[in-house]
Amino acid sequence: MATPLATPGDDAAHGSDAPRRRRYRVHHLARAKESGERITMLTAYDAVTAAVFDAAGIDVLLVGDSIGNTMHGHATTLPVTVDDMIPAARAVAGAAAHALVVVDLPFGSYEAGPEQALGTAVRIMKETGAAAVKLEGGRRSAAQIRALTDAGIPVVGHLGFTPQSEHALGGPRVQGRGDDAAEALCEDALAVQDAGAVAVVLEMVPVAVAERATEILHIPTIGIGAGPRTDGQVLVWTDMAGMTSWSPRFARRYAELGRVLQQAAEDYADEVRSGAFPDAEHSFER
Ligand code: KIV
Repeated sequence: MATPLATPGDDAAHGSDAPRRRRYRVHHLARAKESGERITMLTAYDAVTAAVFDAAGIDVLLVGDSIGNTMHGHATTLPVTVDDMIPAARAVAGAAAHALVVVDLPFGSYEAGPEQALGTAVRIMKETGAAAVKLEGGRRSAAQIRALTDAGIPVVGHLGFTPQSEHALGGPRVQGRGDDAAEALCEDALAVQDAGAVAVVLEMVPVAVAERATEILHIPTIGIGAGPRTDGQVLVWTDMAGMTSWSPRFARRYAELGRVLQQAAEDYADEVRSGAFPDAEHSFER
């Protein structure tokens, strides 16, 4: 159940009568897989939205490297650095009283091997207060996932369309179409699981392939553009909230916040120009 909106970091703001939610942890992911309870995940990149989504009862907040596209104005996630991720992750982890906070390892920060991945993940865990990291790739990233898992760092995998490889994949395209590709995707999913991952994101995958991966894995699958038969769903919050004029086909727009915000800014500008704001109510007489 959702608790009332709190000021970031202000647990008392939840009110004494509000049911207290417990911190969502990695063992809750395993429990959700067993019980069939769907896992909810949204991206967050700052304390303000993290507090809102945490109060809404979202289980997992992903500090995605989609921060590159959504917040930093890049065309892809490739330019995002660890130094970009750390302040965002620290803000989200500081504001999330309940949600499990997962942070993406950005492009170039783990591919060289387990040692590089461990260095990056340790830095993120030490400097942000997050509880897990996510990285892209199946068999090619298994050694990295194993190294982090052995060091006590929970890892979420990411298969299907992996945005950090978008140039190799020819852009945002559905992955796992056809028998061979579907088989390869399932092999990757098993490799990620065997390496110790606690969950795996499946992005832009046909429904039947996501369903098959969900059946063969004992860790939860979290879909984005992967249909309804995964163990959970994740969306990029700016898509879900309608902050932009365009959203991917798989993202339902649950609000048109961009339009609301633009209207608010237009109303504010009109009132400043006309002198209607600030009025007596918003001024200090003494
Ligand atoms: O960076 C991100 O937002 C992601 C989601 C698309 C799963 O990885």
